[in-house]
Amino acid sequence: MSPPGEEPVFVARNLTKVYPMGEVEVHALRGVDFDLYPREFVVLLGPSGSGKSTLLNILGGLDVPTSGSVVYRDHNLTTANEAALTEYRRDHVGFVFQFYNLIPSLTARENVALVTEIVDDPMTPAEALGLVGLTGRLDHFPAQLSGGEQQRVAIARAIAKRPDVLLCDEPTGALDITTGVVVLEAIARVNRELGTSTVVITHNAAIAGMADRVVRLADGRVASVDRNATRISARELSW
Ligand SMILES: Nc1ncnc2c1ncn2[C@@H]1O[C@H](COP(=O)(O)OP(=O)(O)OP(=O)(O)O)[C@@H](O)[C@H]1O
Ligand SMILES: [Mg+2]
Repeated sequence: MSPPGEEPVFVARNLTKVYPMGEVEVHALRGVDFDLYPREFVVLLGPSGSGKSTLLNILGGLDVPTSGSVVYRDHNLTTANEAALTEYRRDHVGFVFQFYNLIPSLTARENVALVTEIVDDPMTPAEALGLVGLTGRLDHFPAQLSGGEQQRVAIARAIAKRPDVLLCDEPTGALDITTGVVVLEAIARVNRELGTSTVVITHNAAIAGMADRVVRLADGRVASVDRNATRISARELSW
């Protein structure tokens, strides 16, 4: 939510992203404004190719816009060099992608420890895995976990550093409905209990009911922004 007077976490203005592809240019973003507030949960919807991942990657410092500006608190990401962007990602951002990218030869606990060993003041891997409901799976290897459990390990890995922002690109894209709900509950719990500002990209419009705000992109532009009067829990979603 955005209580009066609270400073946004992100202020993105007039973002464009052009990919030169040989003879042609692909305009992935065509002038996007986007704000994200502390503790806010935003769902980002839009057709395939509308620019959702491009926007998320720019917010997360994985990519830079062709023009426009992105300011994260007092960091201007658009003028930051590679080293500053790396530091920004490490200190402030948790990412969750459709595919979990866990290391197969490491247990759940060890996968999370990869992150907790390189940041200041992390949770323990057991705490982070507990927060996503995996206390009983600490010493399982990825191959011994279901898809939803693997995704929850990936969420634990992303949030163990207590990031300010959690950016999720189709976190339930590879999961069935029941498992997707459990993963969304884990994301919502992190948002609620840690106050992590959260953006979730999805193709599933039903998930919009969980958000404080729903932003729709179309053809590289913001097509609509809607605020939900009430948020519903993942369990109440129907699709
Ligand atoms: N690295 C790249 N090089 C060239 N074109 C790209 C690149 N990344 C994205 N694009 C193009 O930019 C446009 C926006 O892509 P983006 O991945 O942001 O879409 P999206 O909304 O996330 O789609 P989807 O729902 O399919 O994931 C698309 O037309 C895509 O082909
Ligand atoms: Mg995408």
